[in-house]
Amino acid sequence: MCGIFGMITKDDRPLGEVLLEAGRRLAYRGYDSIGCATLDGEGKTDLRKDVGRIDDVNARLHFPEMKGRRGMVQLRWATFGAPSPVNAQPHYDSDGDLVGAHNGNIVNQVALREAFLSEGMTVRGTNDGESCVHAVERYVDRGYAMPEAVRLATRDLQGDYAFVIAHVNDDVLYAVKQGSGLVAAITEDAAFVASDLPSILPLSRNMLRLEDGEMVVLRPGHAEVFKLSDGSRVDRQPQEVDISVKAAEKGGYPHFMLKEINEQPQVAAELLHWLDASPDVQPFIDEMAAARRLYLVGCGTSYHACLLGAAQLNRLAGIPAVADLAPHFRETLARTLGPEDVVIWVSQSGETKDVLSALKAARPSGVRNLAVFNVLGSSLMHAADRYLPLACGYEVSVPATKTYLNQALLFSYIADRLSATPGTTPWNRFPLLVENTITRCDARVRELADELVAIEDLYCLGYGVTYGVALEGALKLKEVTYAHCEGMLSSEFKHGPLSAVTNGYPVLFVTTPEDTRMIVSHVSEVSCRGGRTIAFGPADPLLQINVDSLIEVQDAGPAMTPLLTVLPLQLLSYHLSVTRGIDPDFPRNLSKTLTVD
Ligand code: G6P
Repeated sequence: MCGIFGMITKDDRPLGEVLLEAGRRLAYRGYDSIGCATLDGEGKTDLRKDVGRIDDVNARLHFPEMKGRRGMVQLRWATFGAPSPVNAQPHYDSDGDLVGAHNGNIVNQVALREAFLSEGMTVRGTNDGESCVHAVERYVDRGYAMPEAVRLATRDLQGDYAFVIAHVNDDVLYAVKQGSGLVAAITEDAAFVASDLPSILPLSRNMLRLEDGEMVVLRPGHAEVFKLSDGSRVDRQPQEVDISVKAAEKGGYPHFMLKEINEQPQVAAELLHWLDASPDVQPFIDEMAAARRLYLVGCGTSYHACLLGAAQLNRLAGIPAVADLAPHFRETLARTLGPEDVVIWVSQSGETKDVLSALKAARPSGVRNLAVFNVLGSSLMHAADRYLPLACGYEVSVPATKTYLNQALLFSYIADRLSATPGTTPWNRFPLLVENTITRCDARVRELADELVAIEDLYCLGYGVTYGVALEGALKLKEVTYAHCEGMLSSEFKHGPLSAVTNGYPVLFVTTPEDTRMIVSHVSEVSCRGGRTIAFGPADPLLQINVDSLIEVQDAGPAMTPLLTVLPLQLLSYHLSVTRGIDPDFPRNLSKTLTVD
């Protein structure tokens, strides 16, 4: 996830070292390129940026040499526009009078780029952050003063973002918050703005909270807030914060896993904005729809998203998509592929060796290789004929949470678009549904975690569309609790595993209204033998009288409900992990990215 930091001081001074240190504190967010810009009192600017790790880039570009009274640093996590020196941030406008950097996504950036070029501006790269700078340039060129130009520019930018920008000819730093994180802070002779607290904390604890739809105008020792809607001033006073840098990196959450679970409403909203607006989406969907055979292939959590995605494509769109594990696919179905077939390779990292090897094995068949991944610039991006990014930002915690949700969301959204009644699912409600589900389930799930704390062996079962969810729930529980939890199709349980059930033996069931009738029958097979049955899904009278406990998830229709059912399972895994004294972010023996066979 990108990070920005900007500062203004009373006089010219060596800012490079301060920017570099602030950049280091933003690095936990993940990045592929870094850049710094400074502006001095004479109107001179210095901009240095490149792809790579901070210390390597600094060894080449020598950030500490940079001087000025205004400065900014940006760490880029590529979402749109490959990681490259020209796409690294900050960016100049056409003639170098403006310099700015952003965090977040500008979803209409392709259309904006074309408009800027036709208006005669110099657009150097394909990064959406550059669009923020040109959007301001457009109004400066039309004669507006900077604050007004910044405010008007935000009307042209669609998406969730925050940006910082400065003009060589004034003595002010401007920043905007519109859907991405942004905080400001002041000291007696300086002012700061940043994507989040950790980069500012060692410099000031006198913080000014900012809200979406606001612009902050920074001068040394001052931060004034204005509404973007009408330019009116907001009366807000800075407040002292008392939080450590380490705690701030986790957004105040004790672990990255919990932070990332709670980021899901935001990343889902960002992906949905992008799916609605990006010109890359329709050609991807067209290829899926035209495929003779369509396969969704991945490993681990990504495979579970493939299972859910294939089920959604089958059920909502009538497309016979098939999900498979990459190494299994490589040894079986990959031998049967032809040029009319399409494989969608699904991966968080885009570096999983099992996935890349299967793609390599499939390539000679002439199959179309599409991809869905989170890390732009990854090997999978280079290997694929066409791709869609997951727009989740950096996922730190080894157990994947937000990337699973966005993988499942992406396929469900496409299935809905390919259905006989496209556009009937109110996807704009989805982020709020995710937020409400997390909030409403949490207390009940904590109680359940206390009850299950000593459990060493359990099953997690699903049926139909929730089969993949059950496997994902079981994987989360295994990864972070070290208990043995087997995921399975609920109808298979009677074919052997049922022998494990004794008095109180726990079996989790994931269900949606479409599958409840069948699930109830499978619940009964367990409960009549004394097993403890716990269901995750929408309330249903038949279900409620048959299970021992129900963790209720709102019924939001066939496209969205299966996506919500994973949320209490993520929370249960997290709380059980912590209750058992395990660090869920870094479970023993596991690695976030497996680059070996
Ligand atoms: C590793 C990780 C899993 C992940 C799997 C696939 O095993 O520990 O959490 O699901 O790799 O990773 P990918 O990056 O391809 O989604």
